Amino acid sequence: MEIVQVLDKKFSLYISKEQIRERVKEVAAEIEKDLKDKNPLFLVILNGSFVFGADLLREMNFPCEITFIRMSSYEGTSTTGEVKQVIGLRESIEGRTVVVVEDIIDTGYTMKEMLRILNEKNPESIYVTSLFVKPENLKVDVKIDYRCFDIDNDFIVGYGLDYDHYGRNLPDIYKVVE
Ligand code: IMP
Ligand code: MG
Repeated sequence: MEIVQVLDKKFSLYISKEQIRERVKEVAAEIEKDLKDKNPLFLVILNGSFVFGADLLREMNFPCEITFIRMSSYEGTSTTGEVKQVIGLRESIEGRTVVVVEDIIDTGYTMKEMLRILNEKNPESIYVTSLFVKPENLKVDVKIDYRCFDIDNDFIVGYGLDYDHYGRNLPDIYKVVE
């Protein structure tokens, strides 16, 4: 399928599942080479990273743990308005090697805040892997250790990523048709 409709927008095929598979394997091999003796804890960020996380983690042939977390926003009473929280993390990460698994880093604000919160819990080290990065949109300096694809600023869906909650089920990546 070259063109798909998601809600009110049309999207065209951008990156095939075969290309993703190949690249995920390469990145997984890099992670394995660096971290196989570190007993890492992978933190897969829901919802968007569930497909990437499932594929990436099945390429890891060494002892590791996997858990799922999400960033939630709520209206705080502070003047800054939006306050973010990490929810779902029951494991202690103190002294652990942690790998955050993200679907896409756009402005970088979400990851920056995630890393700030996780760092307060005294891990030994934190690594970041992201399936996609939009380098031209990055607004803050955020460390990204393992990235699969750098893409331009077009909006994409599929392979776990959504447009207004839809499109996560598409096996390939599609980009919006202007
Ligand atoms: P940021 O890096 O804080 O700007 O936000 C990253 C988040 O924005 C991701 O976790 C996605 O939920 C969402 N996002 C950014 N770009 C896209 C896109 O092209 N498709 C789907 N979601 C996106
Ligand atoms: Mg996300």
